[in-house]
Amino acid sequence: MTDRYAVIGNPIEHSKSPLIHTAFAQQTGESLTYERLLGKLGGFEADVRNFFATGGCGLNVTVPFKEQAWALSDERSLRAESAGAVNTLIQLEDGRIRGDNTDGAGLVRDLSVNHGYLLSGCRILLLGAGGASKGVVRPLLECGPEKLVIANRTAGKARQLADALGSLGPVEGIGLDELDGRQFDLIINGTAAGLTGEVPPLPDNLLAPGGWTYDMMYGSEPTAFVRWGQQHRATRALDGLGMLVEQAAESFFLWRGVRPETAEVMAQLRAM
Ligand code: ATR
Repeated sequence: MTDRYAVIGNPIEHSKSPLIHTAFAQQTGESLTYERLLGKLGGFEADVRNFFATGGCGLNVTVPFKEQAWALSDERSLRAESAGAVNTLIQLEDGRIRGDNTDGAGLVRDLSVNHGYLLSGCRILLLGAGGASKGVVRPLLECGPEKLVIANRTAGKARQLADALGSLGPVEGIGLDELDGRQFDLIINGTAAGLTGEVPPLPDNLLAPGGWTYDMMYGSEPTAFVRWGQQHRATRALDGLGMLVEQAAESFFLWRGVRPETAEVMAQLRAM
C-alpha cells in the first residue's frame, strides 16, 4: 500500500501543502499520497487517531489545531516543546505519536540557506508573541544572534515568551511602544496584523542601514509588511513563501529521511 500523508486544518481548502509534498515526492521518487483533511472543530483528536489507525504515516497540522496536536503528542522534539505547538505528527513503530514543529527551522533555512543571511551576531526584532512567533524563537536563538527582542502590542505576552526561553540566549520581551531609539539588522513580522492589510505601529529608523525584513506571511501581492520594508530601505524585504516551502521540506525529511530540493517548488508557487 502507498504511504499516506495529509494536512489537517479547518478551513483547509486553500492549503498549498498537497501541491508542495506531491512535488517533493515526484522529485525524490518517494512513493506516497498526500491529501487535505478537514478537521472537525470539536473532534480533532479523534480525526488524528482515526487517520493513523487506518494506515496513515504522517500528518501536517495547521490552524487552529497546532496546540491540540502538541497536547496529544506522546513525545515531542525540543523545538516543539518550546513552541507549545506541533505542525508535524509522525507515528512511531510502537504506535505512539511524536510531535515536531518545523516552522522555525523553515524560517532559519530560508534566511540562511536560500538567501545567505548570517543570523549569528545580528540584532533581531521579532514582532508579535502569538503562535507564529512562538514557533520560531528557539530556532532563532540557536543561530547565536547578538540579541533577540520580541515586541508585542500586549507587552506581557512578549515578556512571558522571553522569560520562558531566556536560558537559551539573549532574548528580551517588550511592548511595541518601547521600540523608540532601538535599531535592528533583521525585523521579522509574526503578528496577524497583515490579515487586515495592516502593519504594527513602528518608529522610523527601526531598521539599521543595510538591514533586512521578513514577513512570515505571504501572498500573491506584496504583503503590507513587505511594503513597509521596501519603504524603509530594507536591503531585502522577504515574504514567507520560502518559509512555507522549507517547513514542508523539513517535515518531508522527518517522515522520509530524504531532503528535497525546494527552489523549483518555490518558483512554481510564486508563478501561481
Ligand atoms: P498567530 O497564531 O497567527 O500568531 P495569534 O496567536 O492570535 O495568531 O497572535 C496574533 C499576534 O499578532 C499577537 O502577537 C497579536 O498581538 P496581541 O498579543 O497584542 O493581541 C498580534 N497582532 C494582531 N493584530 C495586530 C495589530 N493590528 N497590530 C499589532 N499586533 C497585532
